[in-house]
Amino acid sequence: MSKSPFVVANHKANKTWEEVRSWLVEISNETSAFPGTIVFCPSAPFLASTYSEIKKINSSLQLSAQDISKFEQGAYTGEFAATQIKDFCTYSIIGHSERRANFNESENTLSQKVKNAKTAGIEPIFCVQSVENEIPTDVKIVAYEPVFAIGTGNPDTPANVKDIAKKLKEKGEFMILYGGSVDAQNVKSFLEPTLIDGVLIGASNSLDPKKFIAIVQNAA
Ligand code: PGA
Repeated sequence: MSKSPFVVANHKANKTWEEVRSWLVEISNETSAFPGTIVFCPSAPFLASTYSEIKKINSSLQLSAQDISKFEQGAYTGEFAATQIKDFCTYSIIGHSERRANFNESENTLSQKVKNAKTAGIEPIFCVQSVENEIPTDVKIVAYEPVFAIGTGNPDTPANVKDIAKKLKEKGEFMILYGGSVDAQNVKSFLEPTLIDGVLIGASNSLDPKKFIAIVQNAA
């Protein structure tokens, strides 16, 4: 398993390739001493070129997709299959609340996605919005991301996140992440050795390289 703290940057549908490239170069330069793991999730069109750039500049960032298809390769226009990105991506986010809400992703669909990821050798970062959500078999990394906290500047309380993390750990041996309005000031309050291994940072504080670097520095 990757080293903790585990800090994930989810860019969602933001930035052009030139902006992604310069973000990657700046983050790689400024975080090279970070003892944990930084996982970068650019938009899907940039996965292959981000992978090449990571190699070219000898960056220690790891690459993740933000989602994958529930289908295997085939006649599914507009989709991309786990087997098509396995050479680039170590991880894929699956089950983000924006996917569940905007694309009607059911628990069945999410199980299929997890299965495809695992078969291809990609580790799912499985998002749940509460302890009630089903967690598919073989998931090892669970991100607790309450909807009210995403993009609102209104994070859950560290005490509640710890309580949820304990309940999630009763369901399996997961690495637990917290996501939702994490910033440089509050990041440390969510990390708890053996309980909460990392954080997932969305558009609020991962797009601006300076804000993201400050989070990584304070997480160390
Ligand atoms: P936020 O998003 O950091 O912008 O609140 C979190 C997420 O969507 O994972």
